[in-house]
Amino acid sequence: MRSDLLLHDMHSHLLPALDDGAKHIEDSLSLIRQLSALGYKKLITTPHVISGLYYNSADTIFPALEVLRAAVEKEGIPIELDAAAEYMMDDYFETLLADKTPLLTINGKYVLVEFSYVAHPPNYRTIFFDLKMAGYEPILAHPERYMYLHQQFEVYRELFETGILLQVNLLSLMGYYGSRVQKVAMQLLEEGLVHFIGSDVHHQKHIDTISGFEMNRSLEKLFDKGLLRNEQL
Ligand SMILES: [Fe+2]
Repeated sequence: MRSDLLLHDMHSHLLPALDDGAKHIEDSLSLIRQLSALGYKKLITTPHVISGLYYNSADTIFPALEVLRAAVEKEGIPIELDAAAEYMMDDYFETLLADKTPLLTINGKYVLVEFSYVAHPPNYRTIFFDLKMAGYEPILAHPERYMYLHQQFEVYRELFETGILLQVNLLSLMGYYGSRVQKVAMQLLEEGLVHFIGSDVHHQKHIDTISGFEMNRSLEKLFDKGLLRNEQL
């Protein structure tokens, strides 16, 4: 059984050859076909933008989206496809912000950002402030995966209180990244700090894991805290 809240996904890597997600269009179609079979109705896919690795922008993302949309339609897969980006909060991202480069948004206002897995940006408060001043609503991707924050739960609360939206990975809730990440993901839900659940699907192994997802009472109760915005997408 799936939750209606999860029909709309806002975090994945399904556009071919743009990042470490789908490699070819056949990969993309296979992943999307399976996500559709799992019940998803809308996917807002989010290629990485990372300094030195993936300089994606509207110029790489939207043409790829058009090609994939046409292929999805041709295959008759009943799913809506859109795209934004997942920005690493690094020096390149700060350049984009300083230059006032329009960022790729989810639903016209949300900007999906991630921290490095080694340490959070020392100036994350300033960057979030600048993002908000520029009219964006920042969403921090998978806060539960930043192990250095596990012992600083107050940072999660601080982010929440300053209006940063938090997006937990469905894969985390299922234990894909280990029990510590799973525990923090659950704790974030229990404390009512989570605004979005994302799949963060990159490849088949992720689909295989998500396929085993079953809604249970305690999860349903956590999803019902009233904060989750997936269905508004
Ligand atoms: Fe991601």
